[in-house]
Formats: sequence, C-alpha cells, structure tokens
Amino acid sequence: MKKYLTLINKDNKIKKSYFKNLKLINAKLVDNTTCQIEEETYKAYLELKKKLAENNIKIGLDSAYRTIENQQELYNEYQEKYGLDYTQKVVASPFTSEHHTGLAIDLSLKINGKYTKDNEEAFKNEKTYKKIHKYLGQYGFILRYPEGKESITGYSYEPWHIRYVGQIPAKIMEENNWTLEEYLTNFSAILYVNKQAGKTSFDIVNEISNIFGIQKVGHTGTLDPLAEGVLVVTLGKAAKVAELLTAEDKEYVAGVLLGVETDTLDITGKVVKSKPVDLLKDLEKVINSYKKTYMQEVPIYSAIKVKGKKLYEYARENKPVELPKKEVTIKQIKLLSSDNDTFMIKAKVTKGCYIRSLIRDIGKSLDTYATMTLLTRTKQGKVDIADTNTIEEIKQGKYKLHSIDEVLNLPVIEVNKELEKKIRNGQKLINTYNVKDKVIFKNEKKEILGIYKVEKDKLRVWKNF
Ligand code: DAL
Ligand code: ZN
Repeated sequence: MKKYLTLINKDNKIKKSYFKNLKLINAKLVDNTTCQIEEETYKAYLELKKKLAENNIKIGLDSAYRTIENQQELYNEYQEKYGLDYTQKVVASPFTSEHHTGLAIDLSLKINGKYTKDNEEAFKNEKTYKKIHKYLGQYGFILRYPEGKESITGYSYEPWHIRYVGQIPAKIMEENNWTLEEYLTNFSAILYVNKQAGKTSFDIVNEISNIFGIQKVGHTGTLDPLAEGVLVVTLGKAAKVAELLTAEDKEYVAGVLLGVETDTLDITGKVVKSKPVDLLKDLEKVINSYKKTYMQEVPIYSAIKVKGKKLYEYARENKPVELPKKEVTIKQIKLLSSDNDTFMIKAKVTKGCYIRSLIRDIGKSLDTYATMTLLTRTKQGKVDIADTNTIEEIKQGKYKLHSIDEVLNLPVIEVNKELEKKIRNGQKLINTYNVKDKVIFKNEKKEILGIYKVEKDKLRVWKNF
C-alpha cells in the first residue's frame, strides 16, 4: 500500500509498518494546543487555507494525527455521552481511525472571529463546508465521508473530515465521485508512457505505481534500459488484458554499429567479436531481404527460460546453454540512413522479436558483426509514440487515461441489465452477435463487464471484471 493511499476503515486497521516512513511535524490546533500532522499533508493544508482565505473562508485545524490512546479517549467519551450505536457511526474505534495516519484533518471554521467547536456547530455552517469541498481535489484532498456513501465508508457524513491522498488520485476520485474504497477497487486504466533511456521497464512501473498510489501496475512488453519510447502500462484490473497488448505488433527505430558484436548484442555490453568493416555494398538490399518470417535465435541476455532457468543467469554463471529459436515475422523494414560503419533502420515486427537479434543477423548477412546502439519503440499496436507522455509529464498531471476497449482491437457490445447479470456470473452465451474471436461486453453505464471468447457456437468468458 502506498503511503498516501493507505486505507484505514472498519475492516482495515493501521499496521505498525505504516509508521516506519511517516514524518510527522508539529502544528497548532484552533484551541492553541499543539498537534502533529504528516509533513506533505500539512503543506497542502496551508495552501488550501491560503486559497480559501482569498475567498473569505477561514479554516483551522480541529484535529489531525491521533494516537491510539487519543482515539480511545474520544471513543469512550462519545460512548458515555451518546451510546454505542451513535458512536459507531461517527467515531472510529482505536486502530481503525484514519487520524492515526496523520493524513486526515478535521476542519474548523472561523465564523465571526470564533472557531466552530463541535459537530453541531459544523453542521450549522454546512454551506461553507460545501464551498470548501470544491477546492479539495486541486490540493490533493478528498472529502472522506461524503453524503450517500455511508454504506461504503462505514461512517455518517462528515463535512469537516478531509483526507490527503495527493493531487492525481484526488482528481480521479473527484471526477468519478469515488470514495477511497472505490478508487482502490475500481480504478483501472491504460497509460501510454514514453520511457526514457537509462531506466528499466520495472522502474517505470514503480514510478507509475507511486504517482497513482495503485499497487497493481504492470507493463506490456519489456523495453531494455537502453531503449526508449512506447511502454504501455496497465493500472488495476487492466492487467487482465496485458497479454493481448503484449502480443501486438511493435515498430522500432534502431541504430547499428558494424564491425563489433557484444555479449548483450547492444552497445552496453562487452565486445566479444570484431572485424574491420569493408565498404558496404548491398546494405539496403540485405536489410530489405529481412522482410520475412524466420527462426530467430534469442539473445543470451534475456529473461527467456531454458530448463527453468533464465538465459541471463546462464550467461552470468558462464554456463553453456543452447539458445532457443523463435519464429518471428519482420512485417516491414527500412534503411533510414547510413554513414560508414553505422546505420539506422525502422522495423515493424511481431511479438517476441528481438531487435538486438535482428541486428546481429543482419550483421552476419553483411559478412561482419553488428551491435545495436540505440532503440526507440515508436509504436505498439494502435499506440503511437506521439500519444505517449514521459514520467515527468505524468507527474505534472499531463496524461490521458485510456479504457480497455479503447486500446484493444475488439468489438464492443453494450448489454441490458438481464444480460449484465449473466455476464457478471460468467455464464456462457449463444453467439448471436456473430463474434469471430473475442468481444468486450459493457453495461448501460459503459462499465466493462467481461471479455468473451468464441467457442464453437457459444461465447465463453475469457476475462471477468
Ligand atoms: N470521525 C472519524 C470516523 C474518526 O473517528 O476517525
Ligand atoms: Zn476526522
């Protein structure tokens, strides 16, 4: 769980490990006593306060971080005053209050020079709170216990209790009218990332996971550290279609150096073979001849497994291994430029094709050695590099979330409530839709229900959402 998206509610108690990376700082409550609050939450709060003051709304902190003992006292006090039933609706029992996170704030309002003191006074000024709610998202806060969501949050409406989650998640929750519980279970999207060279695909996944506060993030088709360009990333349930996205054709632009071959087949490796380069005659012709289907030997520096062990592990341990060959198709290939012992190509290839291997093979055909010097993935399926955003852009909120059906090349059928029920239960359907391979079913609310696959004259569930 990412810190700013930590879910604490009646079913999720705070864990000891949460406090390991927690930085609490001191702040003042409206009664002038000292409280503690998480650092970034406080910064965001001060900005929100400033913005509201410009709009003649004055706020103060009524409560922020609470210890287990603080919460116990509050709970006991309410129980004595109002009884258990009411208390359970308005106060969390110790260990289940999100005030333990330091990310929650109870806001007090300054009205005619005096701060509101209790829930009753707060409700009298509900209109002012409602004005505040409009500003929360842009400062990274959400209204944690909204009206109408009591059955999800477990608490009655609290116009004063706000929770810091960070700007990007807050914006998504606001746009979808989601509580934190709903965001963590419902949020699913596909992002088109422009990976920069030097980072692993896994680094990108981690960064996206941190930005959106989502644990389940995956990529479709690894790009080596050296490579840049299109990396299609799945968030949440979109991971279910990762294999379809991975299987799509890809287009690359690659740089080649002739006369050397390295152990990794790219310029980051150790030179293992070299040969002076003669004047190249048939470069374009040789390159064009690779527009074909052939059995390509996979690079030893790859995660492909042989006898349960990854190939790069054999390489590191210096153990002999026979490199497997895989059928690949080079659908298009073009020489872009050349200069002495270097050239650039553009190629559209099928799943599983290694451009490093293709370059090695072209080298062989040219009667020399060849090494990849740079690689840019310019396309994956429908996704063009022009549609991608860098991690820096995404951090600044410049990104587009794509839905599963938008990215996949599959027909979409919208169904009524009756069929929705059947699909949610994973029931087989008769293929009255003339589906050829797979189909996406959506409900009337345009939510994706499942992907079905043709099986004889029936449609059978392939992925359920
Ligand atoms: N009032 C909220 C639910 C709490 O006690 O944490
Ligand atoms: Zn609160």
